[in-house]
Amino acid sequence: MLEFRSVRKQYENGTVAVQELSMSAETGTITVLVGPSGCGKTTLMRMVNRMIEPSSGAVLVDGTDVREFDAARLRRGIGYVIQQAGLFPHRTVLDNVATVPLLSGCRRREARTRAAELLDRVGLPADLGRRYPAQLSGGQQQRVGVARALAADPPVLLMDEPFSAVDPVVRAGLQDELLRLQEELGKTVLFVTHDIDEAIKLGEKVAVLRQGGHLAQYAEPDALLAEPADDFVTSFVGRDRGYRRLSFRDSRRLRPEATDTVHIGDTSADVPSRAGWVLVLDAHRRPRGWLPPEAAVDGQLTEDQLVAGGSLHVEGTSLRGALDSALSAPSGLGVVVDGDGGYVGVVTARQVLDLIEEHRSSVTAEGVAP
Ligand SMILES: Nc1ncnc2c1ncn2[C@@H]1O[C@H](COP(=O)(O)OP(=O)(O)OP(=O)(O)O)[C@@H](O)[C@H]1O
Ligand SMILES: [Mg+2]
Repeated sequence: MLEFRSVRKQYENGTVAVQELSMSAETGTITVLVGPSGCGKTTLMRMVNRMIEPSSGAVLVDGTDVREFDAARLRRGIGYVIQQAGLFPHRTVLDNVATVPLLSGCRRREARTRAAELLDRVGLPADLGRRYPAQLSGGQQQRVGVARALAADPPVLLMDEPFSAVDPVVRAGLQDELLRLQEELGKTVLFVTHDIDEAIKLGEKVAVLRQGGHLAQYAEPDALLAEPADDFVTSFVGRDRGYRRLSFRDSRRLRPEATDTVHIGDTSADVPSRAGWVLVLDAHRRPRGWLPPEAAVDGQLTEDQLVAGGSLHVEGTSLRGALDSALSAPSGLGVVVDGDGGYVGVVTARQVLDLIEEHRSSVTAEGVAP
């Protein structure tokens, strides 16, 4: 466990960056520190690896005050990832990743083998290892940064706005990758961001800080959206929080229903006589699109006769995804698929809303606030 015990940091110029803050981050989970610029996130994080010493209070790792460790050794045992990755420009990607194992006394070959494994693990092709950081995209550099931080297999990982310099699509990919890696590795991750959506997506718990290094709220993401502690958190959490909360409600109780389907390559004779939309599947039963009502099929059914489908909902995931599948489908029927992408059934927005209402009345009946 990572614990901040009444830590306070006042810089020499008098700025109080962190104000008497206490919180702990559970081992093996991702804890996110989020807040506006200058609220003390980086200061707080850097106290963990002693790049910054608190003015008072203590930081403990598994119950031991970090001041009891040798600072250089401590830092080698804690992975650190920063914005723009902070790679050494004159070393190849592979050598960048091999740096920490080498410092910890690994042989050169061993360190490079380990580095190559890690590049693969973060989703980079092996031949990228020979390039220099400037020859990579921003997203690739961040992946190298993550690989380097993991190289010494540290139990604790500090990540300071690691994905903020890349575009939203790449960023979402990096976030998914981190969640996948975390499932495998189970590190204790302290993650800093000023993006509340990133915080809610990644954090098992989220600490919202406000100006002057005050801890405004420390809670699970769902609780943060449901019950923001004060006006600051409410405005910081932002709009659509009711809708966004649906991300944390699983859709297992949703019952997909059957709808008319045909396959690519079917002829007009196979297409059911109908008044409504027909879902078109491929040979692996994966949804390809929709056939509008009354559409005439000339010869064999091909892809270019279809209307593009909406988002697909993987069964059992979130109600937010289920609702979106229905709202984004041209037919108003959200397509539900299994883990392999195979067609399961369809749901309407009404079904999702009924489930939400049902849930609300059951918790209200138990006397719990919805
Ligand atoms: N070395 C320093 N000397 C004096 N003041 C500092 C120093 N480092 C940071 N500060 C101040 O401490 C406060 C917190 O800074 P910190 O870098 O921890 O914020 P942050 O939340 O990480 O912000 P950002 O989101 O912009 O990275 C700010 O007011 C900052 O100006
Ligand atoms: Mg910062």
